[in-house]
Amino acid sequence: MKVLVVGSGGREHAIIWKLSKSKKVDKIYCAPGNGGISELAECINIPAIEVTKIADWAKENEIDLTVIGMDDSLILGIVDRFEERGLRVFGPRQNAAILEGSKVFAKDLMKKYNIPTAGYEVFEDAGVAKKYLKECDYPVVLKADGLALGKGVLICHCVEEALDGVDEIMVDKKFGAAGSKMVVEEFMTGPEVSVLTFCDGEHLIPMVSAQDHKRAFDNDQGLNTGGMGTFSPSKFYTEDLSQQCYEELFLPSLKAMKLEGRPFTGIIFFGLMLTPNGPKLLEYNARFGDPEAQVVLTRLKTDLIDVFNAAIDGRLNELTLEWEDNSTVCVVLASGGYPLAYEKGYEITGLDQQKNKEDIIIFHAGTALKEGKYVTNGGRVLGVTAKGKDMNEAREKAYKAVSEIDFLYKQYRTDIGIKR
Ligand code: AMP
Ligand code: GLY
Repeated sequence: MKVLVVGSGGREHAIIWKLSKSKKVDKIYCAPGNGGISELAECINIPAIEVTKIADWAKENEIDLTVIGMDDSLILGIVDRFEERGLRVFGPRQNAAILEGSKVFAKDLMKKYNIPTAGYEVFEDAGVAKKYLKECDYPVVLKADGLALGKGVLICHCVEEALDGVDEIMVDKKFGAAGSKMVVEEFMTGPEVSVLTFCDGEHLIPMVSAQDHKRAFDNDQGLNTGGMGTFSPSKFYTEDLSQQCYEELFLPSLKAMKLEGRPFTGIIFFGLMLTPNGPKLLEYNARFGDPEAQVVLTRLKTDLIDVFNAAIDGRLNELTLEWEDNSTVCVVLASGGYPLAYEKGYEITGLDQQKNKEDIIIFHAGTALKEGKYVTNGGRVLGVTAKGKDMNEAREKAYKAVSEIDFLYKQYRTDIGIKR
């Protein structure tokens, strides 16, 4: 069959890498893809946000199945555009992708269906928000309502910070239209765990757990990023806890979406915080995590195309996923300066040396091919992913590969998988 994947990052490379192992897949396309992805898929030069164009292209080219990697495309309604054309597609419709697209929607859903989360208030007016913030307890967390590339979250330790935060989000609109509404949330503490789940509207299968490292520098210093590295599994996410999360958080969320007339097919990514008062939900995402997909899909034994098909056909309950009994670590190599300004176009060396190593997989996030050579082409450049019998072995292998790959102003964290 012919499969199309929509997106251009390390996450999409990981999806494509896994799909390329399936005997059922004859040809893979990616819109728009990147340099590294072009080794496994034919890249189609249509930006992921041009959702109607992509759907038209898929129809013309008789694509059998499309997988949507990117949140922006989902929130713009790409799945609806595919379904209108009678095409098979894996991902939530626009009315379900709102789970990620609006924090106010997500929080109101959790409250209505008693799904454990941080206490919160919603504000549509900066003045009213400021009045509240002058009287509440600290720290608090301010969140712009809409998509803000993971950057619309401010943790404020005192009134002054919070009032400045309101100005940033609601008055100066630093995160654009995402800031027309704002959530003020209770500050929670505890380890953070990411659990991605396959959903078919009715049934849900959790994948193995992962942990992300969101800050730019070692010891969680520096600015928040899209993610500087991940590992799987999380030692905090025990069998008992996974059962509890399934019963109290995951299934109730999926059922709630169905009851709201927004059945969710695709990936729900549950961002959990394991607080002293039990597991609570930080956020939902409506797609695979990046770089969570890199450490999770590399452990999956089951054919991914079978899972996508079962989800689209509403029969995930008939499926059991099989996983490798190992650990994975993904270290992100970024362009110096990321997540702020950075330069691109620098040649990447040492990639050939990693080929044919069974336990090392290099996922490309921001690379381009120029005259037969890979050059940097984004903030996050590569996700160096290693498998090991345990976390220490996986980490050692990943960092050995990291030391062999180079480009000018290479920036990465040296502590991925250490703080567990
Ligand atoms: P989010 O985009 O909602 O996942 O938030 C980004 C990051 O902010 C999370 O990964 C947490 O580290 C932090 N965060 C968000 N909400 C809270 C909260 N209520 N309490 C403490 N930290 C939070
Ligand atoms: N790594 C976090 C995310 O994909 O949102």
